[in-house]
Amino acid sequence: MVKLDPWGSAQIEDYARLRDEFGIEPVDESTWSRIPDAHPLFRRGVVFGARGLGPVARALERHEPFGVMTGLMPSGKMHLGHKTVIDQVVWYQDHGADAHIAIADFEAYATRNFTIEEARRLGLEEYVLTYLALGLDPKKSEVYYQTKRSRVKDLAYALGLNVNLSQMKAIYGFEDQVKMAHMNAPLMQAGDILHIQNPDLGGPRPTVVPVGVDQDPHIRLTRDLAQASRVFNVTETQDQKIGVFVKPEKPRQPVTRLLDEAERVLRRELGFSDLARKDNYRAIYIRSATTADIPRIDLAFAQLESKSLGEPGYFPPASTYHRFMTGLTGGKMSSSKPETAIFITDDPKEVERKIKRAKTGGKATEEEQRRTGADPTVCSVYETYLYHLADDKLLPIVYEECTTGKRLCGGCKLQALDLLQAKLKEIREKREASRHLVKEIVRND
Ligand code: TRP
Ligand code: SF4
Repeated sequence: MVKLDPWGSAQIEDYARLRDEFGIEPVDESTWSRIPDAHPLFRRGVVFGARGLGPVARALERHEPFGVMTGLMPSGKMHLGHKTVIDQVVWYQDHGADAHIAIADFEAYATRNFTIEEARRLGLEEYVLTYLALGLDPKKSEVYYQTKRSRVKDLAYALGLNVNLSQMKAIYGFEDQVKMAHMNAPLMQAGDILHIQNPDLGGPRPTVVPVGVDQDPHIRLTRDLAQASRVFNVTETQDQKIGVFVKPEKPRQPVTRLLDEAERVLRRELGFSDLARKDNYRAIYIRSATTADIPRIDLAFAQLESKSLGEPGYFPPASTYHRFMTGLTGGKMSSSKPETAIFITDDPKEVERKIKRAKTGGKATEEEQRRTGADPTVCSVYETYLYHLADDKLLPIVYEECTTGKRLCGGCKLQALDLLQAKLKEIREKREASRHLVKEIVRND
Protein backbone atom coordinates (compact mmCIF):
# COMPACT_ATOMS: atom_id res chain seq x y z
CA MET A 1 0.00 0.00 0.00
CA VAL A 2 1.13 3.49 -0.81
CA LYS A 3 1.64 5.61 2.21
CA LEU A 4 -0.61 8.53 1.56
CA ASP A 5 0.73 11.85 2.67
CA PRO A 6 -0.71 14.14 0.07
CA TRP A 7 -0.12 17.29 2.06
CA GLY A 8 3.44 16.64 3.06
CA SER A 9 6.01 19.41 3.32
CA ALA A 10 5.24 23.07 3.76
CA GLN A 11 1.46 23.00 3.76
CA ILE A 12 1.16 20.52 6.60
CA GLU A 13 3.71 22.40 8.63
CA ASP A 14 1.74 25.59 8.24
CA TYR A 15 -1.50 24.04 9.39
CA ALA A 16 0.27 22.20 12.18
CA ARG A 17 1.87 25.40 13.39
CA LEU A 18 -1.44 27.22 13.24
CA ARG A 19 -3.00 24.38 15.21
CA ASP A 20 -0.33 24.50 17.90
CA GLU A 21 -0.32 28.28 18.15
CA PHE A 22 -4.05 28.39 18.76
CA GLY A 23 -4.32 25.25 20.86
CA ILE A 24 -6.49 23.45 18.31
CA GLU A 25 -6.64 19.69 18.80
CA PRO A 26 -5.33 17.54 15.96
CA VAL A 27 -7.72 15.34 14.02
CA ASP A 28 -5.75 12.27 13.07
CA GLU A 29 -6.19 8.56 12.97
CA SER A 30 -6.76 8.33 16.72
CA THR A 31 -9.74 10.67 16.33
CA TRP A 32 -11.40 9.43 13.20
CA SER A 33 -10.85 5.76 13.91
CA ARG A 34 -13.39 6.29 16.71
CA ILE A 35 -15.89 7.68 14.26
CA PRO A 36 -17.77 4.92 12.48
CA ASP A 37 -17.50 5.11 8.71
CA ALA A 38 -15.59 8.41 8.82
CA HIS A 39 -15.96 10.74 5.86
CA PRO A 40 -13.00 10.76 3.43
CA LEU A 41 -12.41 14.43 4.26
CA PHE A 42 -11.58 13.24 7.78
CA ARG A 43 -9.48 10.31 6.71
CA ARG A 44 -7.55 12.35 4.17
CA GLY A 45 -6.46 15.04 6.58
CA VAL A 46 -8.55 17.76 4.93
CA VAL A 47 -10.25 18.15 8.28
CA PHE A 48 -7.08 18.69 10.27
CA GLY A 49 -8.14 20.12 13.60
CA ALA A 50 -10.97 20.41 16.08
CA ARG A 51 -12.10 21.68 19.44
CA GLY A 52 -14.04 19.54 21.87
CA LEU A 53 -14.91 16.80 19.38
CA GLY A 54 -14.87 13.96 21.95
CA PRO A 55 -18.54 14.19 22.99
CA VAL A 56 -19.63 14.26 19.33
CA ALA A 57 -17.58 11.15 18.54
CA ARG A 58 -19.14 9.51 21.57
CA ALA A 59 -22.67 10.39 20.43
CA LEU A 60 -21.89 9.02 16.97
CA GLU A 61 -20.55 5.77 18.41
CA ARG A 62 -23.54 5.29 20.67
CA HIS A 63 -26.23 6.57 18.32
CA GLU A 64 -27.13 9.30 20.78
CA PRO A 65 -28.63 12.62 19.69
CA PHE A 66 -26.29 15.31 18.43
CA GLY A 67 -26.60 18.33 16.21
CA VAL A 68 -24.59 19.94 13.46
CA MET A 69 -24.69 23.65 12.74
CA THR A 70 -22.93 25.84 10.27
CA GLY A 71 -23.50 28.97 8.31
CA LEU A 72 -22.45 30.48 5.04
CA MET A 73 -22.08 34.07 4.17
CA PRO A 74 -23.68 34.57 0.76
CA SER A 75 -21.06 36.82 -0.71
CA GLY A 76 -21.00 35.52 -4.27
CA LYS A 77 -21.32 32.31 -6.24
CA MET A 78 -20.92 28.97 -4.51
CA HIS A 79 -17.68 27.22 -5.48
CA LEU A 80 -16.04 23.87 -4.83
CA GLY A 81 -14.43 25.20 -1.65
CA HIS A 82 -17.87 25.83 -0.16
CA LYS A 83 -18.94 22.32 -1.07
CA THR A 84 -16.47 20.87 1.45
CA VAL A 85 -18.55 22.20 4.36
CA ILE A 86 -21.85 20.92 3.06
CA ASP A 87 -20.40 17.48 2.29
CA GLN A 88 -19.57 17.23 5.98
CA VAL A 89 -22.97 18.49 7.11
CA VAL A 90 -24.68 15.94 4.88
CA TRP A 91 -22.48 13.18 6.28
CA TYR A 92 -23.42 14.12 9.87
CA GLN A 93 -27.07 14.35 8.88
CA ASP A 94 -26.88 10.86 7.41
CA HIS A 95 -25.25 9.62 10.63
CA GLY A 96 -27.96 10.76 12.99
CA ALA A 97 -27.51 14.50 13.45
CA ASP A 98 -30.17 17.14 13.12
CA ALA A 99 -28.65 19.79 10.85
CA HIS A 100 -29.09 23.56 10.92
CA ILE A 101 -27.65 25.99 8.42
CA ALA A 102 -27.71 29.75 8.77
CA ILE A 103 -27.71 31.97 5.74
CA ALA A 104 -25.60 34.72 7.20
CA ASP A 105 -27.43 37.57 5.53
CA PHE A 106 -26.92 39.79 8.55
CA GLU A 107 -23.20 39.18 8.44
CA ALA A 108 -23.05 39.94 4.71
CA TYR A 109 -24.95 43.15 5.41
CA ALA A 110 -22.84 44.15 8.40
CA THR A 111 -19.41 43.24 7.11
CA ARG A 112 -19.55 43.14 3.30
CA ASN A 113 -21.85 45.98 2.37
CA PHE A 114 -24.53 43.75 0.86
CA THR A 115 -28.18 44.66 1.07
CA ILE A 116 -30.22 42.10 3.00
CA GLU A 117 -32.32 41.45 -0.13
CA GLU A 118 -29.30 40.69 -2.28
CA ALA A 119 -27.77 38.45 0.38
CA ARG A 120 -31.03 36.53 0.69
CA ARG A 121 -31.41 36.13 -3.05
CA LEU A 122 -27.86 34.84 -3.44
CA GLY A 123 -28.35 32.56 -0.47
CA LEU A 124 -31.33 30.89 -2.05
CA GLU A 125 -30.28 30.71 -5.66
CA GLU A 126 -26.58 29.96 -5.26
CA TYR A 127 -26.43 28.07 -2.01
CA VAL A 128 -29.66 26.43 -0.87
CA LEU A 129 -30.41 24.74 -4.19
CA THR A 130 -26.92 23.28 -4.23
CA TYR A 131 -27.24 22.12 -0.60
CA LEU A 132 -30.32 20.17 -1.61
CA ALA A 133 -28.51 18.77 -4.63
CA LEU A 134 -25.66 17.66 -2.37
CA GLY A 135 -28.06 15.68 -0.21
CA LEU A 136 -29.35 17.94 2.53
CA ASP A 137 -32.66 16.40 3.54
CA PRO A 138 -35.54 18.68 4.60
CA LYS A 139 -36.77 15.97 6.95
CA LYS A 140 -33.61 16.15 9.04
CA SER A 141 -32.24 19.56 8.21
CA GLU A 142 -33.26 23.19 8.13
CA VAL A 143 -31.95 26.38 6.61
CA TYR A 144 -32.84 29.76 8.05
CA TYR A 145 -31.94 33.41 7.61
CA GLN A 146 -30.15 35.16 10.46
CA THR A 147 -32.24 38.28 9.91
CA LYS A 148 -35.54 36.42 10.15
CA ARG A 149 -34.94 34.26 13.19
CA SER A 150 -35.78 36.47 16.13
CA ARG A 151 -34.67 33.86 18.66
CA VAL A 152 -31.17 34.11 17.29
CA LYS A 153 -31.21 37.89 17.38
CA ASP A 154 -32.55 37.91 20.93
CA LEU A 155 -29.92 35.44 22.00
CA ALA A 156 -27.17 37.44 20.32
CA TYR A 157 -28.33 40.45 22.29
CA ALA A 158 -28.42 38.57 25.57
CA LEU A 159 -25.04 36.93 25.03
CA GLY A 160 -23.59 40.43 24.89
CA LEU A 161 -23.99 40.49 28.65
CA ASN A 162 -21.09 38.09 29.02
CA VAL A 163 -18.41 39.68 26.87
CA ASN A 164 -16.95 43.14 27.05
CA LEU A 165 -15.16 45.49 24.69
CA SER A 166 -11.64 44.61 25.73
CA GLN A 167 -12.32 40.91 25.19
CA MET A 168 -13.74 41.62 21.73
CA LYS A 169 -10.66 43.65 20.89
CA ALA A 170 -8.37 40.92 22.15
CA ILE A 171 -10.13 38.24 20.10
CA TYR A 172 -10.71 40.17 16.87
CA GLY A 173 -8.29 43.05 16.96
CA PHE A 174 -11.14 45.50 16.43
CA GLU A 175 -10.10 49.13 16.07
CA ASP A 176 -12.06 52.05 17.47
CA GLN A 177 -13.57 52.72 14.02
CA VAL A 178 -15.29 49.34 13.91
CA LYS A 179 -19.00 49.58 13.21
CA MET A 180 -21.29 48.34 15.94
CA ALA A 181 -23.10 46.16 13.41
CA HIS A 182 -19.82 44.50 12.53
CA MET A 183 -19.01 44.01 16.19
CA ASN A 184 -22.38 42.38 16.65
CA ALA A 185 -21.77 39.79 13.91
CA PRO A 186 -19.75 37.43 16.15
CA LEU A 187 -22.53 37.52 18.73
CA MET A 188 -25.04 36.71 16.02
CA GLN A 189 -22.90 33.77 15.03
CA ALA A 190 -22.69 32.63 18.65
CA GLY A 191 -26.48 32.93 18.70
CA ASP A 192 -26.66 30.75 15.58
CA ILE A 193 -24.50 28.09 17.14
CA LEU A 194 -26.03 28.03 20.62
CA HIS A 195 -29.72 28.42 19.82
CA ILE A 196 -29.92 24.88 18.44
CA GLN A 197 -29.58 23.78 22.07
CA ASN A 198 -32.77 25.56 23.05
CA PRO A 199 -35.39 23.13 24.36
CA ASP A 200 -37.58 23.19 21.24
CA LEU A 201 -34.63 22.39 18.97
CA GLY A 202 -33.36 19.45 21.00
CA GLY A 203 -31.98 20.97 24.19
CA PRO A 204 -28.39 20.71 25.42
CA ARG A 205 -26.53 18.00 23.53
CA PRO A 206 -23.24 17.59 21.72
CA THR A 207 -23.13 19.82 18.66
CA VAL A 208 -20.47 20.27 16.03
CA VAL A 209 -19.69 23.24 13.82
CA PRO A 210 -17.67 22.37 10.70
CA VAL A 211 -15.95 25.49 9.42
CA GLY A 212 -12.77 26.82 7.86
CA VAL A 213 -10.08 27.56 10.40
CA ASP A 214 -10.53 31.31 9.92
CA GLN A 215 -13.70 30.90 11.99
CA ASP A 216 -11.83 29.73 15.07
CA PRO A 217 -12.08 33.07 16.93
CA HIS A 218 -15.90 32.82 16.72
CA ILE A 219 -15.74 29.29 18.04
CA ARG A 220 -13.56 30.26 21.00
CA LEU A 221 -15.89 33.13 21.82
CA THR A 222 -18.93 30.87 21.53
CA ARG A 223 -17.45 28.14 23.70
CA ASP A 224 -16.65 30.75 26.35
CA LEU A 225 -20.19 32.13 26.14
CA ALA A 226 -21.61 28.63 26.52
CA GLN A 227 -19.50 28.14 29.62
CA ALA A 228 -20.63 31.50 30.97
CA SER A 229 -24.28 30.47 30.64
CA ARG A 230 -23.77 27.61 33.05
CA VAL A 231 -24.72 27.28 36.71
CA PHE A 232 -22.49 24.30 37.42
CA ASN A 233 -18.82 23.98 36.65
CA VAL A 234 -17.50 20.45 36.29
CA THR A 235 -13.75 20.40 36.65
CA GLU A 236 -10.62 18.73 37.91
CA THR A 237 -9.52 20.22 41.24
CA GLN A 238 -6.01 21.02 42.39
CA ASP A 239 -5.71 17.74 44.27
CA GLN A 240 -6.78 15.91 41.12
CA LYS A 241 -10.29 15.08 42.11
CA ILE A 242 -13.29 15.70 39.92
CA GLY A 243 -15.64 18.25 41.39
CA VAL A 244 -18.99 19.78 40.52
CA PHE A 245 -19.23 23.39 41.70
CA VAL A 246 -22.04 25.89 41.81
CA LYS A 247 -20.56 29.02 40.28
CA PRO A 248 -20.53 31.89 42.76
CA GLU A 249 -22.12 34.48 40.48
CA LYS A 250 -24.90 32.25 39.24
CA PRO A 251 -27.41 30.91 41.72
CA ARG A 252 -30.91 32.24 41.28
CA GLN A 253 -31.92 29.50 43.69
CA PRO A 254 -30.64 28.40 47.09
CA VAL A 255 -27.31 26.59 46.83
CA THR A 256 -28.62 23.72 48.96
CA ARG A 257 -31.36 23.05 46.46
CA LEU A 258 -28.89 23.16 43.57
CA LEU A 259 -26.61 20.71 45.31
CA ASP A 260 -29.57 18.42 46.06
CA GLU A 261 -30.32 18.36 42.34
CA ALA A 262 -26.66 17.79 41.55
CA GLU A 263 -26.46 14.89 43.95
CA ARG A 264 -29.53 13.30 42.42
CA VAL A 265 -28.04 13.53 38.90
CA LEU A 266 -24.71 12.13 40.03
CA ARG A 267 -26.25 9.19 41.87
CA ARG A 268 -29.29 8.29 39.79
CA GLU A 269 -28.37 9.30 36.27
CA LEU A 270 -24.64 8.82 36.28
CA GLY A 271 -24.38 6.05 38.86
CA PHE A 272 -21.70 7.55 41.13
CA SER A 273 -22.00 6.50 44.77
CA ASP A 274 -18.79 7.76 46.32
CA LEU A 275 -19.64 11.44 46.66
CA ALA A 276 -18.28 13.95 49.13
CA ARG A 277 -20.64 16.89 49.43
CA LYS A 278 -19.32 20.16 50.88
CA ASP A 279 -22.08 22.75 51.04
CA ASN A 280 -19.82 25.50 52.34
CA TYR A 281 -17.60 25.03 49.24
CA ARG A 282 -20.73 24.81 47.03
CA ALA A 283 -19.20 21.57 45.79
CA ILE A 284 -19.61 17.86 45.38
CA TYR A 285 -16.49 15.79 44.81
CA ILE A 286 -16.67 12.49 42.95
CA ARG A 287 -13.95 10.17 44.18
CA SER A 288 -14.05 7.53 41.49
CA ALA A 289 -14.37 9.87 38.51
CA THR A 290 -11.46 10.75 36.23
CA THR A 291 -10.88 13.55 33.75
CA ALA A 292 -12.20 11.26 31.02
CA ASP A 293 -15.60 11.40 32.73
CA ILE A 294 -15.81 15.21 32.70
CA PRO A 295 -17.60 15.64 29.34
CA ARG A 296 -20.36 13.19 30.13
CA ILE A 297 -20.86 14.63 33.63
CA ASP A 298 -20.86 18.14 32.19
CA LEU A 299 -23.46 17.14 29.60
CA ALA A 300 -25.75 15.68 32.28
CA PHE A 301 -25.48 18.97 34.18
CA ALA A 302 -26.17 21.07 31.10
CA GLN A 303 -29.33 19.03 30.63
CA LEU A 304 -30.27 19.41 34.28
CA GLU A 305 -29.88 23.18 34.03
CA SER A 306 -32.10 23.32 30.97
CA LYS A 307 -34.76 20.84 32.04
CA SER A 308 -35.15 21.53 35.74
CA LEU A 309 -33.62 24.89 36.53
CA GLY A 310 -34.94 27.09 33.73
CA GLU A 311 -31.41 28.00 32.63
CA PRO A 312 -29.93 27.83 29.09
CA GLY A 313 -27.43 25.12 30.04
CA TYR A 314 -25.42 25.39 26.83
CA PHE A 315 -22.99 22.54 26.35
CA PRO A 316 -19.78 23.81 24.71
CA PRO A 317 -20.12 23.28 20.96
CA ALA A 318 -17.39 21.37 19.16
CA SER A 319 -15.80 22.58 15.97
CA THR A 320 -13.82 21.01 13.17
CA TYR A 321 -11.51 22.84 10.82
CA HIS A 322 -10.80 21.95 7.24
CA ARG A 323 -8.02 23.14 5.02
CA PHE A 324 -8.93 25.65 2.39
CA MET A 325 -8.65 24.60 -1.22
CA THR A 326 -6.02 26.68 -2.90
CA GLY A 327 -7.07 28.64 -5.93
CA LEU A 328 -6.64 27.20 -9.41
CA THR A 329 -4.13 29.93 -10.10
CA GLY A 330 -2.06 29.09 -7.03
CA GLY A 331 -3.18 31.80 -4.60
CA LYS A 332 -6.34 31.98 -2.57
CA MET A 333 -9.62 30.60 -3.88
CA SER A 334 -12.15 33.40 -3.90
CA SER A 335 -15.67 34.04 -5.16
CA SER A 336 -14.64 37.49 -6.25
CA LYS A 337 -11.91 36.12 -8.55
CA PRO A 338 -13.64 33.78 -11.01
CA GLU A 339 -10.35 32.42 -12.37
CA THR A 340 -9.40 30.97 -8.99
CA ALA A 341 -12.42 28.75 -8.48
CA ILE A 342 -14.78 26.32 -10.16
CA PHE A 343 -18.29 27.52 -9.46
CA ILE A 344 -20.99 24.90 -9.16
CA THR A 345 -22.99 26.62 -11.88
CA ASP A 346 -20.08 27.20 -14.29
CA ASP A 347 -20.89 25.88 -17.73
CA PRO A 348 -18.81 22.96 -19.04
CA LYS A 349 -16.75 25.15 -21.39
CA GLU A 350 -15.74 27.38 -18.54
CA VAL A 351 -14.85 24.40 -16.37
CA GLU A 352 -12.67 23.01 -19.14
CA ARG A 353 -10.90 26.32 -19.63
CA LYS A 354 -10.22 26.70 -15.91
CA ILE A 355 -8.90 23.17 -15.41
CA LYS A 356 -6.68 23.41 -18.47
CA ARG A 357 -5.10 26.57 -17.10
CA ALA A 358 -4.87 25.33 -13.53
CA LYS A 359 -1.56 25.40 -11.72
CA THR A 360 -0.05 21.95 -11.18
CA GLY A 361 2.95 20.49 -9.44
CA GLY A 362 4.34 19.37 -12.79
CA LYS A 363 7.89 19.79 -14.06
CA ALA A 364 9.16 22.09 -16.80
CA THR A 365 9.52 19.34 -19.37
CA GLU A 366 7.92 15.98 -19.99
CA GLU A 367 11.33 14.35 -19.91
CA GLU A 368 12.12 15.76 -16.49
CA GLN A 369 8.72 14.76 -15.09
CA ARG A 370 9.13 11.19 -16.35
CA ARG A 371 12.51 11.08 -14.68
CA THR A 372 11.85 12.78 -11.31
CA GLY A 373 8.08 12.68 -10.87
CA ALA A 374 5.86 15.65 -10.02
CA ASP A 375 4.65 17.14 -6.75
CA PRO A 376 0.94 16.60 -6.01
CA THR A 377 1.20 18.52 -2.73
CA VAL A 378 1.37 21.82 -4.58
CA CYS A 379 -1.06 20.89 -7.34
CA SER A 380 -4.55 22.37 -7.51
CA VAL A 381 -5.69 19.50 -9.76
CA TYR A 382 -4.59 16.93 -7.20
CA GLU A 383 -6.46 18.92 -4.58
CA THR A 384 -9.60 18.62 -6.66
CA TYR A 385 -9.18 14.84 -6.75
CA LEU A 386 -8.51 14.79 -3.02
CA TYR A 387 -11.49 16.90 -1.95
CA HIS A 388 -14.09 16.00 -4.53
CA LEU A 389 -13.29 13.54 -7.27
CA ALA A 390 -11.30 10.48 -6.27
CA ASP A 391 -12.61 7.51 -4.35
CA ASP A 392 -10.33 5.56 -2.04
CA LYS A 393 -9.14 3.39 -4.91
CA LEU A 394 -8.27 6.13 -7.34
CA LEU A 395 -6.60 8.61 -4.99
CA PRO A 396 -3.51 6.53 -4.11
CA ILE A 397 -3.10 5.64 -7.78
CA VAL A 398 -3.04 9.30 -8.81
CA TYR A 399 -0.60 10.09 -6.03
CA GLU A 400 1.72 7.23 -6.84
CA GLU A 401 1.69 7.74 -10.59
CA CYS A 402 2.26 11.45 -10.13
CA THR A 403 5.22 11.17 -7.76
CA THR A 404 6.89 8.43 -9.78
CA GLY A 405 6.57 10.17 -13.13
CA LYS A 406 4.21 7.67 -14.69
CA ARG A 407 1.51 10.30 -14.96
CA LEU A 408 1.81 13.55 -16.89
CA CYS A 409 -0.23 16.64 -16.13
CA GLY A 410 -2.04 16.81 -19.47
CA GLY A 411 -3.62 13.39 -19.13
CA CYS A 412 -4.16 13.84 -15.43
CA LYS A 413 -6.13 17.02 -16.11
CA LEU A 414 -8.27 15.27 -18.71
CA GLN A 415 -9.18 12.54 -16.23
CA ALA A 416 -9.99 15.13 -13.56
CA LEU A 417 -12.03 17.09 -16.07
CA ASP A 418 -14.10 14.03 -17.01
CA LEU A 419 -14.89 13.27 -13.39
CA LEU A 420 -15.60 16.88 -12.58
CA GLN A 421 -17.93 17.45 -15.55
CA ALA A 422 -19.91 14.36 -14.59
CA LYS A 423 -20.14 15.47 -10.97
CA LEU A 424 -21.16 19.02 -11.83
CA LYS A 425 -23.73 17.79 -14.33
CA GLU A 426 -25.26 15.60 -11.65
CA ILE A 427 -25.34 18.51 -9.20
CA ARG A 428 -26.89 20.88 -11.73
CA GLU A 429 -29.59 18.37 -12.60
CA LYS A 430 -30.34 17.74 -8.96
CA ARG A 431 -30.49 21.48 -8.34
CA GLU A 432 -33.30 21.83 -10.84
CA ALA A 433 -35.06 18.72 -9.54
CA SER A 434 -34.86 20.11 -5.99
CA ARG A 435 -36.56 23.45 -6.55
CA HIS A 436 -39.80 22.25 -5.03
CA LEU A 437 -37.99 21.34 -1.80
CA VAL A 438 -36.70 24.86 -1.17
CA LYS A 439 -39.93 25.83 0.57
CA GLU A 440 -39.64 22.82 2.83
CA ILE A 441 -36.06 23.28 3.94
CA VAL A 442 -35.95 27.07 4.21
CA ARG A 443 -37.72 28.24 7.33
CA ASN A 444 -39.34 31.62 7.56
CA ASP A 445 -38.64 32.23 11.20
N1 TRP B 1 -19.10 33.59 9.55
C1 TRP B 1 -19.38 32.51 8.64
C2 TRP B 1 -18.72 32.81 7.28
O1 TRP B 1 -18.07 33.80 7.14
C3 TRP B 1 -20.83 32.26 8.45
C4 TRP B 1 -21.61 31.85 9.68
C5 TRP B 1 -22.66 32.53 10.20
C6 TRP B 1 -21.44 30.70 10.46
N2 TRP B 1 -23.19 31.87 11.26
C7 TRP B 1 -22.47 30.73 11.46
C8 TRP B 1 -20.56 29.62 10.44
C9 TRP B 1 -22.59 29.72 12.40
C10 TRP B 1 -20.71 28.61 11.39
C11 TRP B 1 -21.72 28.68 12.37
O2 TRP B 1 -18.87 32.05 6.36
FE1 SF4 C 1 -1.01 17.44 -10.52
FE2 SF4 C 1 -1.68 15.35 -11.96
FE3 SF4 C 1 0.40 16.89 -12.69
FE4 SF4 C 1 0.55 15.31 -10.56
S1 SF4 C 1 0.31 14.67 -12.65
S2 SF4 C 1 1.20 17.44 -10.68
S3 SF4 C 1 -1.53 15.42 -9.76
S4 SF4 C 1 -1.76 17.48 -12.59
